[in-house]
Amino acid sequence: MSSGFLTAKKQMPNLGVGLGLRRELAAETMVNKDAIDWLELVPENYMDLGGKTRQRLDDALEKFPLVTHGVNLSIGSTDELSQDYLSSISRLLNKIDAPWWSDHLCFTSIENSYLHDLLPLPLSAEALKHVVKRVKTAQHVVGRPFLLENISYYMEMPGDQMEEVDFLAQVLEKADCGLLLDVNNVYVNSVNHNFDPYRYLDRLPLERTVQIHVAGHSHGDELLIDTHGAPVIEPVFELLEYVLKRTDVKAIMLERDQNYPQFSEILAELAQIRDIVMRVRPSIAACA
Ligand SMILES: [Fe+2]
Repeated sequence: MSSGFLTAKKQMPNLGVGLGLRRELAAETMVNKDAIDWLELVPENYMDLGGKTRQRLDDALEKFPLVTHGVNLSIGSTDELSQDYLSSISRLLNKIDAPWWSDHLCFTSIENSYLHDLLPLPLSAEALKHVVKRVKTAQHVVGRPFLLENISYYMEMPGDQMEEVDFLAQVLEKADCGLLLDVNNVYVNSVNHNFDPYRYLDRLPLERTVQIHVAGHSHGDELLIDTHGAPVIEPVFELLEYVLKRTDVKAIMLERDQNYPQFSEILAELAQIRDIVMRVRPSIAACA
């Protein structure tokens, strides 16, 4: 099947190994520019720019390539796609000239109330059709390549007719969009829902992967929880390597969102990711 997205992917820049732009880490991020190739930001934090936020964005833009990773598109919701949101994100993407933008395969709102949680969709033919249509609309309105991230989920919704991996694969193919593959989410889900993470990856159209998230997780009473608040574990680095051996991607990013360690620990994890990249697929490294 011909794919406009896969053709567009060939033109996307190799950004290399990046980090999330976080207020708590911003000062050290700026001074460690040589160890960080690019930054990912949460667009909802930068749509209404106040003094300090504007300054942080301008500083980041001066030093790094930037892309956005949103939480409020609510692509799977039955609420109307928000035209205000699409306009705001378009303005931000134009300002930072992002090569792509992303959000999660989930819903985050019901009747226009935002839930501050990434909730899994019912894995039905009806939901599939609904999401595909909305991804096409969002990608068309914004006019830049769009990536969907696989979420970590802790429950299954009623009405499932297929496995999550097949739902995700079909959304990507039918909407002709890209994948933001979170290898920690794959690992966490594989433990919580008892499946083989490698077979999961084999069933995805990995060639649609543009960006990869690497993160740490925590142990709850019964489940692993995707906290982004702990060191990355070895099996997650192994999944990263497995993916890089199979497909070209454009960017890899370390997610750390709470329980911040010394910045040297973050730099060490970035270096570990870079080692894997240099060994397996050096073309990704922007500074190579
Ligand atoms: Fe992620």
